[in-house]
Amino acid sequence: MTDFDKIINRRKFLQGTFVIGASAFILSALPGMKALADSTILFTSVATNSLDTITLPEGFEWHVVASWGDPLWSGVSPFNQESRGNADSQARSFGDNCDGMAFFRVNNRNLLVVNNEYCNRNIIYGNRASKLPENDDDVHKGIAAHGVSIVELSMSSERWEIVLDSPYNRRITAASPVELTGPARGHNLLKTAADPEGKFALGTWNNCGNGVTPWGTYLACEENFNGYFSTPSQPDKKLTETYKRYGIKNKDKGYDWSRVDDRFDVAKNPKEPHRAGYIVEIDPSDPDSLPKKRTAMGRFKHENCEVVVADNGKIVAYMGDDERGEFIYRFVSSGKFSPGAEGNTNLLDDGQLSVAKFEEDGSGQWLTLSPQTTDMTLEEICVFSRIAGSKVGATTMDRPEWVAANPHKVEVYCCLTNNKNRGIKPNAGGDPTPVGGPNPRKANKYGQIVRWIPEKGDHTANSFTWDLFVVAGNPAVHSDANAGSENINADNMFNSPDGLAFDSVGNLWIQTDGNYSNVDNFAGMGNNQMLMASVETGEIQRFLVGPKECEVTGITWSTDNRTMFVGIQHPGESNPSECHFPYGGNSVPRSSVIAITRTDGGKIG
Ligand code: FEO
Ligand code: CA
Ligand code: CA
Ligand code: CA
Repeated sequence: MTDFDKIINRRKFLQGTFVIGASAFILSALPGMKALADSTILFTSVATNSLDTITLPEGFEWHVVASWGDPLWSGVSPFNQESRGNADSQARSFGDNCDGMAFFRVNNRNLLVVNNEYCNRNIIYGNRASKLPENDDDVHKGIAAHGVSIVELSMSSERWEIVLDSPYNRRITAASPVELTGPARGHNLLKTAADPEGKFALGTWNNCGNGVTPWGTYLACEENFNGYFSTPSQPDKKLTETYKRYGIKNKDKGYDWSRVDDRFDVAKNPKEPHRAGYIVEIDPSDPDSLPKKRTAMGRFKHENCEVVVADNGKIVAYMGDDERGEFIYRFVSSGKFSPGAEGNTNLLDDGQLSVAKFEEDGSGQWLTLSPQTTDMTLEEICVFSRIAGSKVGATTMDRPEWVAANPHKVEVYCCLTNNKNRGIKPNAGGDPTPVGGPNPRKANKYGQIVRWIPEKGDHTANSFTWDLFVVAGNPAVHSDANAGSENINADNMFNSPDGLAFDSVGNLWIQTDGNYSNVDNFAGMGNNQMLMASVETGEIQRFLVGPKECEVTGITWSTDNRTMFVGIQHPGESNPSECHFPYGGNSVPRSSVIAITRTDGGKIG
């Protein structure tokens, strides 16, 4: 028996009987939960396809809530197909590439807070010959298309729509003022020419997944912040290890932000990159509040931030670092959460950061990142968290994406999306990436979801046990480990799990960001998709298929759980002239948030 088989068998042992092949199923309430009359979701799994639209099971419908370029205020020009907007219109319109999001109810208003992760240059500059920014206004348009959009929504004629001119509407862009907080605030590593005190920065960008705190704030998670920096004033400048570990290079990814702002020229402003890569806390109830970059929670390529309150009242935040061979982190607050107390707002500034070590035998530990364990100062640990994690020997993972904690049970899940380097080359810090443990396949093409159970049901405990909830694969093409675990079959297969969230009744929703070629290793998988899983039985069914070339990412629910909001990111990312979601005809494809409801008006999570 191979190690891989042992892992799969352990999963079967922990989960008990697994039923394959049901065409429809009801997920009943979990043990100990009160069953709500309409809390179950019954649907027949949808087949894969490569269509340029949303596919849902019978009994469900969808509509568009907000698309890239939709104005948030009256007086702003509607999205213009030819110009694709300019810097001014973009700064007052919904940003590009929607990702993580959360729904808030504030003073009887419905607020949707949405990350605008990045831009597809070939789409927002698709009207330029180079498909890149060609003048200063183009660059500023890109800067304004990033960040976070806060929009008030209203329901009219069974459709959610943006409330223009709401006092809560807000755009936070890559140029908006933000505050640096926590241990590294004011440290020399964060001081720049523009901010000699190291306390205030400008902007947040490449916000991927998100989090929500029990005190009603939103957490935007800065991921691939590196791709915006370059060294045009010294094209051959040698960048040292602390830059290399985070992927900062002499050239950016084509955004050209250094053209209009020297902050992005690392040769001129070497410390500016130290001010990105954080968890950013935003208060949607106060449009004048400064977003806060929480340095205590570490600097890495943050995917999302899953926050739970431990039984002892401490705040526990689980966070993945999405890069090949990087780590899973945990932050435990020093203080305790007390509903309604004022001190809650600074709980994320003081606590213990640690990294996960997974053992082959199904046990694991959280390894403390402290000056004692790393020989680094606390401030250095905050800013160079990856280097600290390497020093203590954290497990190099297959690209940790979203983490989700079961709201009804002390257990946590994390998508490990794929890793072509597994067993082939080390991570950027030189840490080996051996095949085994929660990363059981060489050159992992399909991804898996790892689950850990904290010792004694305590999220603050330093020990846990783990198993693999699902190993994605293609059983129609492979009969070895690449066929996936037993809960994968020809009717529910997928690759590259990424977004992950529990609904209020304990269903686990899985969103994919994978290969949509539908050929060879990925034959039969179709477009990116969203699936629903029962964590009790391991059963997984496909609920949604996205349009061509999209990624399905971001999920939240209305307060009454009768609407599920889902993000459709970068439709038509490679061939925009052949993709036209969501407006059809000859329209430019636009990243959009959609609302999904049941035709019978019932709950959907
Ligand atoms: Fe922005 Fe790791 O996805
Ligand atoms: Ca993601
Ligand atoms: Ca991804
Ligand atoms: Ca993405």
